[in-house]
Amino acid sequence: MKNKLLWWIRVPALFFLIFGLMEYFIDSGKQPAIIAYPITQFFMVLVLIILIAIELILSSIENVMFQTLSEEAKERYLVSKAEKWEWKWGKETYKKMLGSKPMEAETEIILDHNYDGIRELDNKLPPWWVYLFYASIVFAIVYLLRFHVFNDYTQITEYEQEVATAKLEIEEYKKTAKDLVDEDSVELLAESSDLSAGKKIFESNCVACHMVDGGGGIGPNLTDQNWILGGGIKNVFHTISEGGRDGKGMIAWKQTLKPLEIAQVASYVLTEINGKTPANPKAAEGDIWVDPNASAPAPATEIQEQVTDSTSVVMN
Ligand code: HEC
Repeated sequence: MKNKLLWWIRVPALFFLIFGLMEYFIDSGKQPAIIAYPITQFFMVLVLIILIAIELILSSIENVMFQTLSEEAKERYLVSKAEKWEWKWGKETYKKMLGSKPMEAETEIILDHNYDGIRELDNKLPPWWVYLFYASIVFAIVYLLRFHVFNDYTQITEYEQEVATAKLEIEEYKKTAKDLVDEDSVELLAESSDLSAGKKIFESNCVACHMVDGGGGIGPNLTDQNWILGGGIKNVFHTISEGGRDGKGMIAWKQTLKPLEIAQVASYVLTEINGKTPANPKAAEGDIWVDPNASAPAPATEIQEQVTDSTSVVMN
C-alpha cells in the first residue's frame, strides 16, 4: 500500500477526527468535553503522542526495508514513489460529464458557415446538463401527480406537522435539561432526590429566617396556607428567585442558587414544609392562596352536592 497522504496532513487529520469523535460521543452538556472533563485534554495529548509514534515507527520500518533492497529495486521503489498520485477515475468521469471534444478533433464538428471569420462548433450538449434536464422532467411529473392530482399534502399540513414534532422535541429537551426551568415552566418536583437536595439547600440557606420546620422568624411562616407573595410552585419559585418586597429581608436567590436548585427548594417547601405543624408557628400573614388551576373542577362538585341536598329536601 502506497502512503498517498503526507505525514503532516495525516497526523493532524487523524488528530482532529479523533477529537471530533470524542466531542460527539461524550455528553458534556453546554460545555465542550475538553473543558468539562480535563482528563480528555490528557487523552488528546496521548493521542497526539501515539500518532507521532506510529508515524516514526512506520518511517523507520520503511527505511529499514529500503536498505535491504537491491540497488535496482531501490531505484524502482523511488520512481514509483515519485509518481504523482492521480485521481484517475475522478478525472475521467469529469471529462465524460463535460462531453467536450478535444481541441484536436474540433475539425470534425465545425459547421460550414463563417460570419466574418467567426465560426461555430456543433458541440453536443454536455451530459451533466442533459441528465439534469431529464431528471427535472421526471421530478416535475412526479410532483404534478403527487401534489396536484392526488393532493398528497399541503404546505400547511407540512408546517403543522413540523411544529408539532418541534414541540415534542422541546418537551423532551426540557426533561433532560432540568436546569433550564424558569418561573413559567417550573413544575412541582416529586422525585425524592430532588426533595432531599431541596432540603439541603433549605437547611443551609433559609433556616436562619424561616426555621428548620418553616415555622417562621424573621421570615414568614411557610407551613400555613397564607401567602404574602402567592403560593403554588410558580409563585414560590418567583419569590425565591427574585426575592420578597423591598426592605423585608428576603433576597433574590437567583444570584446564589441555580434555577434547578430554586425549583428543588421550592418543591421542598411546598411538599415537606407546607401543611406541617411547626414547633413555634408565626402568625399567618397574607391571604389564603387558592390554586387557580385546581379550583376549576371544584364548583362542579359543589353544584352536584347542592342538587342532591335539594332532592333530599323535597323527599322530606
Ligand atoms: C434574611 C432572612 C431570610 C432568608 C435567609 C430567607 N428568607 Fe424567605 N423570606 C424572608 C422574609 C422577610 C420574607 C417576607 C418577604 C416579604 O414580605 O416580601 C420571606 C418570604 C419568603 C417566601 C414567601 C412567603 C409568602 O408568604 O409569600 C418564601 C417562599 C421564602 N421566603 C422562601 C425562602 C427560601 C426557600 C429561602 C432559602 C433559599 C429563604 N426564604 C431565605 C426572609 C428570609
